[in-house]
Amino acid sequence: MARSRPMSPWTLFLSFVVLIACIVVPGVTVKHENFKTCQQSGFCKRNRALADNASAQGASWSSPYELDPATIHFKDGQLNGILIKTTSTHEKIRMPVTVSFLESGAARIIVDEEKRLKGDIEVRHDSKANKKRYDETEKWVIVGGLEVSKSAKLNAQTETGFTNILYGPEDKFQAIIRHAPFEVEFQRDGETHVQINHQGLLNMEHWRPKVEHKEGESPEEEGTWWEESFGGNTDSKPRGPESVGLDVTFPGYNHVFGIPEHADSLSLRETRLDPLPPCACIVANHDNRGGPGNHEQPYRLYNSDVFEYELNSPMTLYGAIPFMQAHRKDSTVGVFWLNAAETWIDIVKEAANSNPLSMSAHSKSNTKTHWFSEAGRIDLFVFLGPTPQDISKTYGQLTGYTQLPQHFAIAYHQCRWNYVTDEDVKEVDAKFDKYQIPYDVIWLDLEYTDDRKYFTWDPLTFPNPKGMQEKLDESERKLVVLIDPHIKNKDDYFVSQELKSKNLAVLNKDGEIYDGWCWPGSSNWVDCFNPASFPWWNSLHKFDRFKGSLSNLFIWNDMNEPSVFNGPETTMPKDNLHFGNWEHRDIHNVNGITLVNATYQAMLERKKGEVRRPFILTRSYYAGAQRMSAMWTGDNQATWDHLGASLPMVLTNGIAGFPFAGADVGGFFHNPDKDLLTRWYQAGIWYPFFRAHAHIDTRRREPYLISEPHRTIISQAIRLRYQLLPAWYTAFHEASVNGTPIVRPQYYVFPENEAGFAIDDQLYLGATGLLAKPVVTENTFTTTIYIADDEKYYDYFDFTVYQGAGKRHTVPAPEDKIPLLIQGGHIVPRRDRPRRSSALMRWDPYTLILTLNKKGEAEGSLYVDDGETFDYERGAYIHRQFQYRDSVLSSENLGTKGAKTAEYLKTMAGVTVERVVIIDPPKEWKDKSTVVIIEDGAKTGSIAVLEYYEQESGKAPYAVVKSPNVGIGKTWRIEF
Ligand code: NOJ
Repeated sequence: MARSRPMSPWTLFLSFVVLIACIVVPGVTVKHENFKTCQQSGFCKRNRALADNASAQGASWSSPYELDPATIHFKDGQLNGILIKTTSTHEKIRMPVTVSFLESGAARIIVDEEKRLKGDIEVRHDSKANKKRYDETEKWVIVGGLEVSKSAKLNAQTETGFTNILYGPEDKFQAIIRHAPFEVEFQRDGETHVQINHQGLLNMEHWRPKVEHKEGESPEEEGTWWEESFGGNTDSKPRGPESVGLDVTFPGYNHVFGIPEHADSLSLRETRLDPLPPCACIVANHDNRGGPGNHEQPYRLYNSDVFEYELNSPMTLYGAIPFMQAHRKDSTVGVFWLNAAETWIDIVKEAANSNPLSMSAHSKSNTKTHWFSEAGRIDLFVFLGPTPQDISKTYGQLTGYTQLPQHFAIAYHQCRWNYVTDEDVKEVDAKFDKYQIPYDVIWLDLEYTDDRKYFTWDPLTFPNPKGMQEKLDESERKLVVLIDPHIKNKDDYFVSQELKSKNLAVLNKDGEIYDGWCWPGSSNWVDCFNPASFPWWNSLHKFDRFKGSLSNLFIWNDMNEPSVFNGPETTMPKDNLHFGNWEHRDIHNVNGITLVNATYQAMLERKKGEVRRPFILTRSYYAGAQRMSAMWTGDNQATWDHLGASLPMVLTNGIAGFPFAGADVGGFFHNPDKDLLTRWYQAGIWYPFFRAHAHIDTRRREPYLISEPHRTIISQAIRLRYQLLPAWYTAFHEASVNGTPIVRPQYYVFPENEAGFAIDDQLYLGATGLLAKPVVTENTFTTTIYIADDEKYYDYFDFTVYQGAGKRHTVPAPEDKIPLLIQGGHIVPRRDRPRRSSALMRWDPYTLILTLNKKGEAEGSLYVDDGETFDYERGAYIHRQFQYRDSVLSSENLGTKGAKTAEYLKTMAGVTVERVVIIDPPKEWKDKSTVVIIEDGAKTGSIAVLEYYEQESGKAPYAVVKSPNVGIGKTWRIEF
């Protein structure tokens, strides 16, 4: 969050003071006191205390949950039964449990509470809050993959006290369900990979009436059951305590990844010590240390506008994806905790020798995780892999794959808070052209509006929005404008009037329209949980309602956590009410994506008969957001540390299924110096979402403003992004069909190479074999790149050869150079002609870069479509597989035909391959001067020139096929 209003002299003075302070102390950090620690959150503290207690009791601890064997019923891939929780006062609480075995190979465990399910509870304070546990998260998140497996079956070998189910591919998976205490062990090929409630931390705080204690006699543990205060706000908790908790153990796994969003390393750290020292003082103070280099707090997921967030921290940020992958040599498994309420996750790693289960050869330790949420039910998916790709695919079947974006969206975005007038926008546009720096999108932040009223333009500064968009359209550039969910509470503002008259606003606990403070001052929030908000939100985006908008305008949904300046932890009170009388506590973490959903629909329906793929940037997110939007890491700072942190953050998002991610290039707060800005561009070109952005109080820093040589270096970096757009778009396409990350961490590409598992400062672009290692530290002019295998790797620019498995190689990194290698064995498509925008490259020819692997072979692929419409769903695309084998380079069709294939191929008929560059070709090619080209259907081949270039030692020779001019959409062979 960053606030700014029209500046008074006093504000100006303060800004000056702040500016000076910033110069003296760059990188101010978060106000911890604004956000809860676990110790300050009632349910977090209670669940951690349960874990402490279990740990302190050791073997004598037993989970009080039992699956009543008489209730077990297994049919059609689904097991139903009743869990009985026995309380300390011997009460028996009934909790229906369902375990579903899905066709995809995932398993799902749902536990609810009978009493709340039946609505058989009393709600306090006359609240209208829904009595059930929230069970609609999946409505926003799950889009498929729920077909239950017909072939899952009871295992006849089961011993008494257990129910075992065989499922998954060739029955290789097995769930061993122990009845008492309840525990589920998931096996693959007879080996245990995931254990549920193995530590006995399953916890469902069942409903009970409030007992009125005499003053001063309230038991301490009840202190936060009925009411909880923090930072001057009191949460009324009308349904009392209702948290859910569960432990998930990964035996033999040393690394866990995922659960964004945190500013932390890719491989997640421990958050507590285990086993707890038998010391009463530590048990009493639940803030145990995670050990050196680790965290003291659990990882928190509670979407928040964290001002000046800190790094290396488990603190919550703007988004939440409760999906985790556990990885060890040659095996990846995962879990997805489908719960929209505030959630915390503890991680503990245990030495393998303390657990006989992990004696397997490739394991070093067990990772024990503990998940707990304030409300809702237990709804956990378990994935058994075995590869990271399997996990991405199965998880994506459930939550959806990345939207294939419009092509412009993967190019360079130029943003700042704010371009101040429509003339300013046009001038920036012209300057990019003058300095021949490509860009595709210019952004307008908050200040384009009339007095912070969305769907309006400031009449003084943006008198001619249409003219501005038309100008941008001349080079097929786009405009993105900010639309936030808070609506200025003003009688004469049509959006406010409609919001109220249509009853579409979020309500406070008393059922009145909730009023809070945000950019426009007093504001109300649209409640997108209400289905009626969708048609209304649609209507606001229509060209005749959002006057001045044209079809090259797209949307940025910011502040949708939601951010409320005067709310508890800068968000809404948890006892606010949404449609269906769900409390805000129930739905908080999906709140952001409900808005994105509504905006997505609105963009689809903006103009009848002209459907374009929407582009939306969202700050707040949850699992599923990848289907509709891109995300960025919010308000970072112009420091080297923040630049460094952006890489693991983007990588983490990718493995959590939301790869269209980026960070503000240059840093949002403060002014980067030229070196930092330059290095940031060199790193930023590897973010799937590549946008420069800056706070309103920063100096202008458009790339053309930077003095030489930095301007040229930055321009070259941006041009490299544009040159590789064919490879990027292909990687986006792959993500859109099977969920693989667009930029991939080391472990994902080399899952068997243990030394690379924790590496998170280098990344691979899709399946291209391109390995980038951005420089993220000051005054650094050489770096090291870790290479896992014994293929040759070539410097992308000068073909210097690096070879040697399992070690770091020193690579020069002067300021004008991006450390970038390409692994042997790949064919990378690119386009070499610099243009003003990516759309203008549409008809440009391709260059193929080819490196051979040890077998002398190579492969690669290319996906291309119109980059705009949904016609690709009807076959309007080109998808080619390139292969080099036995001295022949070939292009084969990977796509299937659809109604629009022929028409599309026709439009692309003139687009060809203009050059093939072979790095380190066979020596015999020295004596060759031609190659034979055979296009599909041609009776005879034609000849193209082959040139061979020697290089100084250390650098590979290369050969170039000149003007083969084979059609990009055609099947062809080049014989060497
Ligand atoms: C907060 C966002 O994180 C930031 O990027 C934006 O500039 C400001 N809101 C103003 O809209």
